[in-house]
Parts: sequence; structure tokens; C-alpha cells
Amino acid sequence: MDKEKWNERIRLVEAALLRELGEENALVPELAASMKYSLTAGGKRLRPILVMAAADAVGARGTDFIQAACGMEMIHTYSLIHDDLPAMDNDDYRRGKLTNHKVYGEALAILAGDALLTQAFEVILRQQGVPAEVLLQVVREISIAAGPNGMVGGQVIDMLSEGKRISMEQLRTMHMGKTGALFRAAIRSGALLGGASDKQLEALTECADCFGLAFQITDDILDVVGDESVIGKPVGSDERNNKSTYVTLSSLEEARGLAADTAAQALEALDTFGAEAQFLRELVQMLLERNK
Ligand code: IPE
Ligand code: IPE
Ligand code: MG
Ligand code: MG
Ligand code: MG
Repeated sequence: MDKEKWNERIRLVEAALLRELGEENALVPELAASMKYSLTAGGKRLRPILVMAAADAVGARGTDFIQAACGMEMIHTYSLIHDDLPAMDNDDYRRGKLTNHKVYGEALAILAGDALLTQAFEVILRQQGVPAEVLLQVVREISIAAGPNGMVGGQVIDMLSEGKRISMEQLRTMHMGKTGALFRAAIRSGALLGGASDKQLEALTECADCFGLAFQITDDILDVVGDESVIGKPVGSDERNNKSTYVTLSSLEEARGLAADTAAQALEALDTFGAEAQFLRELVQMLLERNK
């Protein structure tokens, strides 16, 4: 894994996030503080890094697309703030710190999430250096992915499935929504911004869908066997909430096998790409080794 590249890009994303937050010009300092708290709490920054890695893969320079990358991280961070609320997963820790509502209260946490989601689109729309019609397509993809037929829809299936035995197919639909949709949008956005051909876009979409699914399967595994001090969020949250996961529907071993098969499929989708896709390949490989 090119750790240096990853760290350098994390630094770029984090600097851009702070800049975009514009704390000093904020209308309401309390709201800006709550947004900043979650945005700067760490996190792997995978979605913005995937935007850049997908642009690299089609021969562009990933770091040219920092605005779009940053917007993806803002949407993801909002989804985590809301996911942790008492009405949802009711978790007290996230990214190694108290959850947003534990520090700022539920109302401000909800509003900080709303603010991050909305501001994300303003940030993405300030992406320079791409034709307007490409940017429009990217915004459309990201808004669909974040909405009722994407992430939010998946979160609702997750909620409605608590305490129920759902089918493997329903579980897959839930995962592809709550987690897969933003990964698909991140990779497709990077590809579109980088000027991907239709064939490249198709292959990267296949890679993204496998990536998202494998990522949530490993998240389900880490919820059972992870180390709380490493993952920075509570272990056993899914069991406490009677969630349907790959671990509850199959076994830990089967879930591991499925994650490995799905990651292998993601790699296979990159077969036709050259050395430009190396970083993206490493990110796929990381899926199986991750402990946070
Ligand atoms: C956690 O995502 C929520 C899921 C979709 C499983 P990440 O594991 O990417 O969280 P951070 O951004 O690194 O905190
Ligand atoms: C939530 O899945 C995914 C989103 C936030 C959209 P989880 O509820 O499993 O995520 P964690 O484990 O709390 O990060
Ligand atoms: Mg959840
Ligand atoms: Mg959760
Ligand atoms: Mg989880």
C-alpha cells in the first residue's frame, strides 16, 4: 500500500475541508463548531480518496478534483452523524471521539448533518476545470446516490429490518444502498471528472459496486470482532440493535469468504486498466486487511 500517497491525499482533503467550512465567516458559531467537530474527527477519508483514485485510473490527475472529493466526505460525515443518533443506532463514539449529539445535543447534531449535506453541493459545484455538463452529471449522480434510492433508502431498509429475518437478497439491497451508493458515486464521479470513456466508466462502476459491498461486509465483521480502540466506534452495536448483517445471516467465516470473493471481483474489473489504476487496486486490496 502506498501509504505516503494516501497520507498526502488525506492532508489535502483535510486542509480543503477546513477551508470550505469557513468557520471564521460562519453565521452561527455553534453550528460551525458542531460541523467542524465531526469533519475533523479523523476517519479514513476513503470516499474522497476514491474520487481521486478513479480519476487517476483514467489517466487524469486525481488531486485536480479536490472540490468534488471534499463534497463526498461532507455527505459521508453527515450520514455518520445521523446514523449515530439515539433514534437510529444510538452510538456514543465515532472516530474515537464522543458522537456529535453527545457533545452538541441532538437538535444541533441533526442540523449540523443537514448543513453538511446542503453545503456539500455548493462545494462540489465550485469544482473547476471540467465542462459544465460533466459537472452537472456528477452532481446528479451524487444527489441520486445520497437520496431515497441510494444511501437514505438503504438506511431505511436497515431500520425496518431490525429484529427481522430478511433474505440475503434484501440484505444485499440494503448494503448497496446505505453504503454502496456513496462508493459508487465517489468512483463514478472521479471517473467522469477525469474524462473516462464509456467502457472505462462501465468497468469502474463494476469495481465500485463490488468495493461498496465488500466494504460493508467487512464493516459488519468488524462490528463483531473489531478492536474498539482501533475502529473508534463501539463493537457490538449491530447486535444491540438487532440488526440484520452478513454475520447474522451467515457466519463470520462465510462473511469473510464473501468479502474476499467480492474484493477479488472488484480487482478483476480493473484488469483492462494499466499502471494508472495501481493506487485504486491497492485500495481494493486494503479492504481485506483493514482493521478499522
Ligand atoms: C463507516 O464508514 C460507515 C459505513 C458506511 C460502514 P467508514 O468506515 O468509511 O468511516 P470513517 O469515515 O473512516 O470514519
Ligand atoms: C451505516 O452503516 C452506513 C451509513 C452511515 C450510511 P452502519 O450503521 O453499519 O455504520 P457504522 O458501523 O455505525 O459506522
Ligand atoms: Mg446504521
Ligand atoms: Mg451505525
Ligand atoms: Mg456498522
